Amino acid sequence: MAPENRRGQPTMDLTHVRPNRVRRPMPARKRETVGIDLGTTNTVMARNFESLPMQGGGCIMPSVVAYPPSGGTLVGKAARRRRAMDPKNTIVSAKRVIGARWVSSYTSQFREHYPYDLVEGPDGWAVFNTRAGLVCPVEVGATVISGLRELTRCPVGDVHAVVTAPVGFDQQRRDATAWAVSKAKFASVRVIEEPIATALAYLNRSSLKYAFVYDLGGGTFDAAVVDCSRYPFRVIGHGGDPYLGGDDVDRTIALHVADRTLARDGWDLSNDAVTFDRLVLACELAKCELSGSEQAAIAIPSVDPAAPESCGIIPITRDEVQQLTLDLVRRTFAMCDEVLAQASLKARDIEAVFLAGGSTRLPGLRGYIESYFGKRPRVDLDPMEVVSLGASLAAARPAVSELLDPCA
Ligand SMILES: Nc1ncnc2c1ncn2[C@@H]1O[C@H](COP(=O)(O)OP(=O)(O)OP(=O)(O)O)[C@@H](O)[C@H]1O
Ligand SMILES: [Mg+2]
Repeated sequence: MAPENRRGQPTMDLTHVRPNRVRRPMPARKRETVGIDLGTTNTVMARNFESLPMQGGGCIMPSVVAYPPSGGTLVGKAARRRRAMDPKNTIVSAKRVIGARWVSSYTSQFREHYPYDLVEGPDGWAVFNTRAGLVCPVEVGATVISGLRELTRCPVGDVHAVVTAPVGFDQQRRDATAWAVSKAKFASVRVIEEPIATALAYLNRSSLKYAFVYDLGGGTFDAAVVDCSRYPFRVIGHGGDPYLGGDDVDRTIALHVADRTLARDGWDLSNDAVTFDRLVLACELAKCELSGSEQAAIAIPSVDPAAPESCGIIPITRDEVQQLTLDLVRRTFAMCDEVLAQASLKARDIEAVFLAGGSTRLPGLRGYIESYFGKRPRVDLDPMEVVSLGASLAAARPAVSELLDPCA
């Protein structure tokens, strides 16, 4: 007979039964996500709308990989320092040929502009022939992202990434971009278009119908009209020039300085490739300095130690740079005309203009953009980080990013 309790109710003898372990629900592990802007010139990674800081400062890493004679691989700033002294083994702008076939306009155009030994790889892809052997552009991208991941101490393995790609990339080039990210050991990778990321970053807290994204980076200009009235955001007009950006500005200033030293001191800085590349880098620094001052100086002896003393310093002003870049800026507006026409819109129909790309800091440019659209462009998010910030939102909110992801 079953034993009874004090109230006379039957009880069960539980002495030999091990108590059930109480199963508390496991605290749900937060899904780790990042957004990545793998740019032609720079790469940035962001998490939950904050750019990830690198050890040693800053959050923007040059998309450069170098293979020095001593062996090993350098990435980011350390690699970029070798650009002038070892150009063939210092790979910049690999994004221009990521996922490009050997027989393609991307490859032929790239070969016209860069000093690399680009060859046909085993499967018909364009690959770099470097001191370290054949390296495909995907590998270069993966090395850049892995380098940034280390510097930002982003953990390996369990992080889900959203990476951005230009609207003009075909499926093959989008896949190659995604592949570069997975090779850098992310758990999953999704691709969204760059202007969608910019619009998403800006429209995080507000809404409107037509936004225009004006993105002038290091090597590329991209213009897009984004319909943001409902998810999914859609690019309804886009265009660009894959060889129009800050690099062109730097070369234009460098040619101008070289002309001046030749005319004034009879010294040619342009007939030696390494010297000229050093001059281009010095001009880029001077250009960036002009965002905060009226005038910058280029010290010729530090560019070319063999130059005569008379070369001294060449000053360069904001006005000069504005004049020198006028033609380049006009070309961007010709493209904006085409993009608006594609979307059957006029400049006045655009409710907000979002700027992306470091070259939107060029002297005078924001004023031209304001006159063209009849409204002040939005610059409250850093134009060099805004794409990765938008990607980080898409990564952190899978429900939204599914709707946003036209390339999935
Ligand atoms: N203060 C500044 N004034 C003018 N140009 C600047 C300034 N700061 C950065 N830049 C230029 O911005 C460019 C890099 O911009 P960004 O990092 O947005 O390019 P990216 O995204 O890597 O390139 P892309 O969009 O072409 O793939 C470089 O050419 C750099 O010289
Ligand atoms: Mg960019």
